[in-house]
Amino acid sequence: MGRLAGKTALITGAARGIGRAIAIRFAAEGANLLLCDLNLDGLREVAAEAESMAVETLCLRTDVASRDQVQALVDEGMARFGMIHALVNNAGIFFNAPFEQTTDQQYDRIMAVNVKSVFLVSQIVIRHWLQRETKGAIVNLASIGAAVAFVDSSAYCMTKGAVATLTRCIALEYGPRGIRANSMAPGIIDTPMLPSVEDNENWANNTIPLRRLGEPRDVADVALFLASDESRYITGEMIFVDGGWMLN
Ligand SMILES: NC(=O)c1ccc[n+]([C@@H]2O[C@H](COP(=O)([O-])OP(=O)(O)OC[C@H]3O[C@@H](n4cnc5c(N)ncnc54)[C@H](O)[C@@H]3O)[C@@H](O)[C@H]2O)c1
Repeated sequence: MGRLAGKTALITGAARGIGRAIAIRFAAEGANLLLCDLNLDGLREVAAEAESMAVETLCLRTDVASRDQVQALVDEGMARFGMIHALVNNAGIFFNAPFEQTTDQQYDRIMAVNVKSVFLVSQIVIRHWLQRETKGAIVNLASIGAAVAFVDSSAYCMTKGAVATLTRCIALEYGPRGIRANSMAPGIIDTPMLPSVEDNENWANNTIPLRRLGEPRDVADVALFLASDESRYITGEMIFVDGGWMLN
């Protein structure tokens, strides 16, 4: 029997990259999937692959920075599946810019997509959980940028620091009511979010202790652990998925 058999997972930003890998990994373990993204075509491809593993899916085009759209997503998901057992707040954006050149528009958008979305989706899902006997687990995508500084990435690092902090606060506030929340801090993972994979590959081969870039499935396996009962006594943690980069 799959490690998430009979459970339902909500995964945001599931059309590609890490979110896609998490969706496929969870489906392989028997989870039904509530998937959202701005890219509905990409989501449908992921859903088709998941359905070939005999799970059910529901895909909704959702901007995770919009309360109305997130409310509709969660309400439809609950109506369809009856429960969301695992929430993976994965949707995110990234840009490089020197701090003094970062615009208000860039700041507002990255805060909305990377931080407000985690606040909104978690709050709306937790409200459902509080009305039910069965509770669930939250898995958030932070980044090593939550723990260390990077040049030309101040806005992005701020957002990931906020995600790590919100995760700990939710874990503390709702642990007594049976809700867990953890985050993952990936290093450099080979997804379309990365600007130049070739440069990054050379860099990783020389710098990362495990001598390679991360792959989306490296992160998906940790997400599976944190979403499943196997991590039942772990909450408020941030797990680095970085090939040992933080050891340097
Ligand atoms: N790739 C890395 O090296 C890396 C490292 C650390 C953390 N992360 C984090 O992991 C998560 C996934 O990253 P990825 O590399 O797979 O990125 P990606 O760009 O490949 O995928 C992100 C997905 O999120 C979706 N998305 C963006 N804005 C959205 C919105 N407003 N509403 C709904 N969906 C939206 C995109 O359409 C896309 O499908 C992000 O939170 C990212 O910050 C990535």
